Amino acid sequence: MVGSASGRSGNVTLTVNGTIASVPGSMELLTALRDSIGLTGAKPGCGEGACGACTVLVDGEPVRSCQRTATSVAGCEVTTIEGLELGRRSPATRLHPVQQAFADECAAQCGYCTPGMILTTAALLARDPHPGDAAIDAALAGQICRCGTYPRIRRAVHRAAQLAGGSTEPTDWPGIGSDSDRWGPPLPGSQQYRPERPWDMTSPAERDWFGILGDGLVVVLSPPPADPGTWSTAASAWLHVAGDGLVTAFTGKVDVGQDNRTALRVLVAEEMGVSLGRVRLAMGDTDLCPYDMGTFGSRSIPDAGAVLRKTAAYARTVRPVRPGERRVEYVAGDPALSEPATWRLAGHAHRPPGTAAAVTGTRRFVSDLSQPGMWHGAVLRPPVPGAELRSLDQSVLGGRRDVLVVQAAGLAGVVAADPATAEATAAALQAAATWEVPVQPSDGELAIFLRAHPSQGGPGRWGGPFEEREGSPASALESAAISHEATYTTAYVAPAALETRVAVAAWDDGRVTVWTGTQTPFPVRAQVAAELGVSEADVRVVVPPTGGGFGGKHAAGVAIEAAVLARQAGRPVRVSWSRREEFTVGTLRPAAVMDIAAGVTPEGTLSGWTHVNINSGAAGIGTPYRAADRRLEYRPAESPLPQASYRALAATANNFARESMIDELAHLAGIDAVAFRLRNLADDRLAAVLLAVAEHIGWEADRERIPGMGVGIACGLEKDGRVVTTAQVVIAPGRQVRVTGLVTGYECGAIVNPQTVRNQVEGATVMALGGAMFEAISFTDGVISNGAFSAYRVPRLADVPPVEVILLDRPDLPSAGAGETPMIAVAPAIAAAIFDATGMRRRSLPLTSDGVLPATG
Ligand code: FES
Ligand code: FES
Repeated sequence: MVGSASGRSGNVTLTVNGTIASVPGSMELLTALRDSIGLTGAKPGCGEGACGACTVLVDGEPVRSCQRTATSVAGCEVTTIEGLELGRRSPATRLHPVQQAFADECAAQCGYCTPGMILTTAALLARDPHPGDAAIDAALAGQICRCGTYPRIRRAVHRAAQLAGGSTEPTDWPGIGSDSDRWGPPLPGSQQYRPERPWDMTSPAERDWFGILGDGLVVVLSPPPADPGTWSTAASAWLHVAGDGLVTAFTGKVDVGQDNRTALRVLVAEEMGVSLGRVRLAMGDTDLCPYDMGTFGSRSIPDAGAVLRKTAAYARTVRPVRPGERRVEYVAGDPALSEPATWRLAGHAHRPPGTAAAVTGTRRFVSDLSQPGMWHGAVLRPPVPGAELRSLDQSVLGGRRDVLVVQAAGLAGVVAADPATAEATAAALQAAATWEVPVQPSDGELAIFLRAHPSQGGPGRWGGPFEEREGSPASALESAAISHEATYTTAYVAPAALETRVAVAAWDDGRVTVWTGTQTPFPVRAQVAAELGVSEADVRVVVPPTGGGFGGKHAAGVAIEAAVLARQAGRPVRVSWSRREEFTVGTLRPAAVMDIAAGVTPEGTLSGWTHVNINSGAAGIGTPYRAADRRLEYRPAESPLPQASYRALAATANNFARESMIDELAHLAGIDAVAFRLRNLADDRLAAVLLAVAEHIGWEADRERIPGMGVGIACGLEKDGRVVTTAQVVIAPGRQVRVTGLVTGYECGAIVNPQTVRNQVEGATVMALGGAMFEAISFTDGVISNGAFSAYRVPRLADVPPVEVILLDRPDLPSAGAGETPMIAVAPAIAAAIFDATGMRRRSLPLTSDGVLPATG
């Protein structure tokens, strides 16, 4: 495609994917492609050339479109993901071989990085048809996949080379574009349909069950009366069976890339006795879905899975619907559920739906949405967390009429017709604002600060204080043959989802709809209503495909901002946080300070245990080891930086501290790390995973040591999942630590979809690798100094060693989640491996400084 300047208007003509378009020459190429031409396959991710999400091909070479103007590519061929397959279609699949390979390997979770990955791979294969791993790592070094699908991406590149060379065939997954592939979001027609009131706020008798889907059978599971003894994030469900047998099930859970969607569809299809291709799932729409607390805590399968199974099992027992009939049935009693031993669909691997959309760039994320007449919002930010706006001098705008300045509902912001104007105006106002700034510490003083600033925790902070005491730990420690104590710390880390927080808000007759990538649409609805002073029934929150969450997308901030600005502007408004806002305004995984003291008998049995966590939380503080005399305590603290939930909550920190201490005790007792754990574990299921992994890797207590190489092992039990990770490290010249292999064994009861579980375990292992090795938020006097992908290191392809996953299926046990627990044994396994290689104990996460060990521990 050829571009040329057309001086009079300042526009240039570009040919993109074979089509000519005219765009402003000075416009950023990414903006021109997305906003002027309407090709949203190239994604915004960082705005500084550091993530690769915006990659396009210019004359066949990968280019960061956020770093180029339209004029700079005049005269060049520009190819976006939407145009990749032109002229390159494989007759069998109609996809480019690289797209087909990524689909075959399920080399995506949220899919936000996928267009950039695929285009960069296509360019690599064009110049090197059979690259080795080193060439692949180098070519994709600039591409971030925050979901951590790198092992699959590497496999997909090799597979693409084979497909392109004709030496292999596409896999026999259900075909791209088939029913099985199609039932991703959104539900057709749901955006146009709006009931009078949200369904969870309307009595079942008054609901318009058939307004959206037409005639058919509706089966409803009503929430049981509140029982203080039971707790579920998803207490109800409903589904619709059309006359042609198509099943639509509704859940308030959301899928932000973890693919709970497939497992929930599988469970419905299994119980109803229909094919997977006949079941679709409506998720995360507060007007249509049953109430749900939120998608967190690995509760999708245990909670939403349970209510959907029950609803579907009951639906199977009632009389089928006749053509033209409308019938509502309420689940009564306890319908018999299918036995895992007889499962047809569950327990087998299923590819996530919408694969074609992910690999062709047609999946529409929140960032890609717009509304007619939509403008763009930007918000002023405090220079330091907790700073309060004292004055705002609007005169710096000189009475401009093309922007609207808003000061309402606790925010100050700007609305303009395009994002660049909104951001520039907000920046001018920011420079003219004065703030009252609190005194905050720097990262080097954090542990002292947290110890010195206890809080009561509770809502708005981070849980309440917690203490559990059994026996007499103090005297057990005093009389122990070996007693040992140590302090462990973890840094703040950022979820850093590749898609930043984005919301689009549109008001209509006093009611607002907010499209946003949140994990908690119902709580966000409540917060938006409270902030705007409207009834909750007048707020609808819809969750479109979202570029990752990792526990970090709970808060309603961006949704409130869009709703406030849209109301003031009298038109739809989109607010899209910059990468810096994502790092500095979004919440972080809490930093932790943990004190552990433990005692061991001469026989190697734990005899006393105390574990105190300051600031990060009580998750995972319970121990799977026998220690009759123990004290577990969580002390909330005043965090200087904004903190909130994060994938696996505090379990990563608490498990790091506990497993590191176990490794230290085993060493002090002169007992092998696996044998010591087996001697003290109180959980047979975890012991079984430990044995399976140890056997798989050929763990030997008396293995021969290789200088500069170490192996470590750690385990954990959280949210009813059991995990064991082993790590191998090599200490390279310059004290560089290279993790050269990771094996994670995982048991989560009956596995519903091994493909998703495996993908989640791999991704969690990779994400945990970052926090273990180098991820850390740096701050000085409360100001974050590394709020950019160029400064905050996340795992990239070359950081990721081969990751092996061993799944232990237990069809006899209830299913637990898989998105979080596989993280928690990675850091202590690497710490143990570093000790094995160097004799140095590392008790703080991250374990290295940018991958390098200090000279002394
Ligand atoms: S490299 Fe352009 S958005 Fe990140
Ligand atoms: S799949 Fe790569 S960022 Fe989500």
